[in-house]
Amino acid sequence: MDDLENGRNKGMSRRLFLKRAGLFGAAVSAPGLLAACGGAETAGEQASPAATGAASPTGAATAAPSPTGSPAAGGDTLRVGLMVPLSGTYASLGEDMRNGFQMYLDENGGMLGGRTVEVVEAETEANPEVGLRVAQRLIEEDRVAMVTGIVSSAVALGVRDLFHESQVPLIVSNAGANDVTRAAMSPYIFRTSFSNWQSSYSIGEWAYENVADSDIFVIAPDYAAGAEDIAAFREAYEAAGGTVLEGALPPFGTTQDYQPFLSEIQNSGARGTFAFFAGGEAINFVQQYRDFGLKDAIPLIGPGFLTDEGVLEAQGDAAAGLRTSLHYTPLLDNETNNTFRAAYEEAFGESPTVYAVQSYDAAQLIALTLDAVGGETDDVDAVVEAMENVGSIDSPRGSFEIDPETHNPIQTFYLREVQEVEGALGNVPIEDLGVFTDPGAS
Ligand code: PHB
Repeated sequence: MDDLENGRNKGMSRRLFLKRAGLFGAAVSAPGLLAACGGAETAGEQASPAATGAASPTGAATAAPSPTGSPAAGGDTLRVGLMVPLSGTYASLGEDMRNGFQMYLDENGGMLGGRTVEVVEAETEANPEVGLRVAQRLIEEDRVAMVTGIVSSAVALGVRDLFHESQVPLIVSNAGANDVTRAAMSPYIFRTSFSNWQSSYSIGEWAYENVADSDIFVIAPDYAAGAEDIAAFREAYEAAGGTVLEGALPPFGTTQDYQPFLSEIQNSGARGTFAFFAGGEAINFVQQYRDFGLKDAIPLIGPGFLTDEGVLEAQGDAAAGLRTSLHYTPLLDNETNNTFRAAYEEAFGESPTVYAVQSYDAAQLIALTLDAVGGETDDVDAVVEAMENVGSIDSPRGSFEIDPETHNPIQTFYLREVQEVEGALGNVPIEDLGVFTDPGAS
């Protein structure tokens, strides 16, 4: 539990199913270590080609990296870097982020704020060393005007200093590492997703009142996000009066068999289990939790990545009835979301996920910013000032604002329950948990 304590103190169709199953089967090994503030996590994931140019699934152009020494961002075309994992545990998250960004571009004729956009895609493998390397390439060789993407907290922490020092705006569209918008906050870094604190703190009090008033087991992968999610849940649950049990941090990316951890949960006398897992790990954990016989005996809860629409179909009945917290579900009934969901389903043949929404909103944030500066990106201070002042963003999650103090979204979290909706499993919003603002650096 040392890492947990440190974290705390630091404070679909068959075709699509097969496609996803194939991706989740890809090998990744990453024994993560808890990242220090603003520093890189060391992780030994498999090496693979660092960057790829790829065609967009909607048919719109996604550029291959441009040659060294090509002109900077000032010309007519706005070059935007998109850092996403396209292999390993988090591959499907990266694909969804690519889709969400591309959808906003397609809806706007390939332009943001009056500039034609060239997307330069870079594969991070959710590995901080690869992430740093491709970020350097985007900045120094491709000379992008700004960068978005990043799934993993470890990658976000690893590239923070590079973006801060090179003064290239970075819009993080997933990674929740708290310090990115706290102690290591940078004028040049914004987030359209969440902080790890938000996604897990938001379910703590509810868990105390509705699951068990003591003895909740906590489990998450052994890297920065896992420790932060557990710490935030514990903070809220203990503030409500509960006490969490010992926890477990299975190795990130390499754990296929959760049986030893499931035995630990069973033998711990737990009255509930809080789990943060995403992508391929969420599929394995939720299925094995059911197969081990724990599902009906010990309620399983967590941040909504555990049952997002990218993993639900593969989880099947094992996920039915699970309750999680998140700032999005495609079943939110608001006009922006209803239009977005229909367009996304039409374009990609599947339900949008929170990752797609966060990336769609990163494109919106860039568009609103460029509108405010007349499409001119050379004066980076004017760009970040405009980004800080875009006001309310009309998102499928509901309108939200970027907190000028932290550059992190201020947003509502929903309790969702997995239920069958029109013949398929979906995350039905059953309770509004309130608006959560990350406390920022204290
Ligand atoms: C993270 O590493 O911050 C992270 C990864 C996957 C998620 C959420 C957060 O679904």
